Amino acid sequence: MRSGRGVTRRRALGIGGALGLVAATGLTSAAALARRPPATGAELRGAVPLRPPFQVPLPIPGVLKPVGTSGGVDRYEITQREASVEILPGVRTPMWTYDGTFPGPTIESRRGRPVTVSHRNELPVPTVVHLHGGRTPAGSDGYPTDLVLPAGRQETAMHMGHGSEHGMHDPRAVVTELTRDYAFPLDQRPTLLWYHDHRMDFTAPAIWRGLAGLHIVRDDAEDALGLPAGPRELPLMIADRAFAADGGLAYPALDPTLRVRPGVREPYLAGVLGDVILVNGAPWPVHEVDAARYRLRVLNGSNARHYELEAVTDDGRRLDLVQVGADQGLLAAPVTHKTLPIAPAERYDVVVDFSGVPIGGRVRVVNRLGSGRTRDVMAFRVARKVADDSRIPGTLSTDLPDWRRSDAVRVREFAFRAGRTHGGRGWLIGGLPFDPARTDVTARLGDVEVWRLIADVHHPVHLHLVGFRVLSRGGRPPLAHDAGLKDTVSLRPGEAVEIITRFDGYRGRYLFHCHNAEHEDMGMMANLEII
Ligand code: C2O
Ligand code: CU
Ligand code: CU
Repeated sequence: MRSGRGVTRRRALGIGGALGLVAATGLTSAAALARRPPATGAELRGAVPLRPPFQVPLPIPGVLKPVGTSGGVDRYEITQREASVEILPGVRTPMWTYDGTFPGPTIESRRGRPVTVSHRNELPVPTVVHLHGGRTPAGSDGYPTDLVLPAGRQETAMHMGHGSEHGMHDPRAVVTELTRDYAFPLDQRPTLLWYHDHRMDFTAPAIWRGLAGLHIVRDDAEDALGLPAGPRELPLMIADRAFAADGGLAYPALDPTLRVRPGVREPYLAGVLGDVILVNGAPWPVHEVDAARYRLRVLNGSNARHYELEAVTDDGRRLDLVQVGADQGLLAAPVTHKTLPIAPAERYDVVVDFSGVPIGGRVRVVNRLGSGRTRDVMAFRVARKVADDSRIPGTLSTDLPDWRRSDAVRVREFAFRAGRTHGGRGWLIGGLPFDPARTDVTARLGDVEVWRLIADVHHPVHLHLVGFRVLSRGGRPPLAHDAGLKDTVSLRPGEAVEIITRFDGYRGRYLFHCHNAEHEDMGMMANLEII
C-alpha cells in the first residue's frame, strides 16, 4: 500500500491550507471566492501502469430482478461480499461489493410502489445501507449506528468504531445480525437515487472499496414525455479511484481493516482523490452511440472529486448539455449548459444530441477541473445515422414545490468548517463534530424552513429525507445548474448558500452532512430530528 504513491498538492488544498486562506489572511468571503481553489482534497497516485483512455466499453450495471412480490411490494435481495473485480483490463481488484459487482446492481422502481431490499452482510465489517435521495422512514434510512453485523461478530457492536473509542454510545441504535430488511415506500418524484454504505466513521473507505449502486424511480408522467429511452438512456456513475501495485484499491486509511480507528493520513484530511476516472466501474470508457439524442443520468459517486463536465467533439465544438432533471427529479423546463459542475453525490439528468456529429466522430466528456489524465472522463463514438423520435418538451413537470421565503417559520445558519475534533483535526458543522447522541436540529413535520449554509472550502451539503430548492448563492440568485429540486448542494470555498425546504414525509431521526465522504467521516455530520 505504501509504494509508488505520492500526493499532488499543487492544485489541492488541505485543512491547513483552508484555514490559512480563510483565517490567517482574514479574507472576506468575496475575496475567498475570487481565489476559489479548484479542488478540496489530495490526489493519490496509483502504481499500476494505465492504458490510454477510451478503449474499455462502457458497462451498464445490470438491473436486479425482484425475488418476489407480495401485497404490491417488490422484494429484492442483495448480498454484500468481497469479490475480485476486473476494473482495469487484465487486473484483478479485490473489492467490497453489492452482489459481486461495482457498481452494485441497479434497482428500477415505480413511484409509490414500495420495495423491500433484504441486505445480507458477508463482509468482514459491519455495514449500513442508505438510499440517497430516498423519502424513507427513519428505520430504513441507514442511520450510521444502525449496523448490520457480519456473521459471528455480535460482540463488535460494542467494540467498534467511534462509539467505543470516544465514549459515545448511541442508545437508539438498532443493530441487526447478518441481515436487515430495508423498506422503501418510494412515494416521491421519479429520479436517479443511489444506495451506498453509511457506517459511522467508515463511509468514505467503504464507498471507495465498492459499496455503491443505483436506484431509479420512474412514473407514467415521465415516461410519457418522450425523452430518449431504452438504450438511449444511460446511467453514468462517475467515480475516481487509485490502484496499488498489487491491483488493489489504494486508500490512506489509518486503520486498513476499517474496524477500529477511523480517519485518513494527514495529507488526505481534506478528501481523497484518485488518479483513475471510472464511469460505471470502467476506466475512461467509450460508448458507441447512434447519431441521436441520449439521456445521460449522471451521478458523481466520487468521495471528494468535483467535476465540471463538457462534451467536446473532435473539432473542438462543445455540445449542449440540456439539463432536464436535478437530484430530486425533473425540472419545470429544460436548462441548457455548455459546462456542468457536479459535486460528490449530486445527480444531473442531461440530454445530449449526437445528431450533428459526423458518423465515425468522437465526443469526449472532459472534466475542466482535472489535469493530465484526470481531465478525461469518457467518450462517445457516433456509429450510425438513425431516425430519432425522442423529444425534449418545453414543460417537463408542473409539480415542483415553490416555497417562498415568507413560508418559512424559521431561518437557521450552519457553518461548515475545518476544526478540532476529539480525534484531532477534522470537520465541523456549527463548531461541533458529529455525535449520534446529540440532537442538533429539531424540525416540525410540515414546517418550511430556510437554511443558510456557509463554507470554508468546498462542501457538498446533503439533507436526508427531503428535497430542497436553492434560494441564493453568495447573496445572489442561484446559478443555472441550481435549478429544480435538489438533495445535495455544492458550497464553494467562502460561499454562503441559502436553501428552502419543507420537512415532509416521516418523523424520526435523520441526518444532514457534507458529502465529501472524508469530511463526513471526520465529523461533518449532524442530526435532524423530525417531530
Ligand atoms: Cu449519500 Cu447521508 O448520504
Ligand atoms: Cu442521503
Ligand atoms: Cu465538506
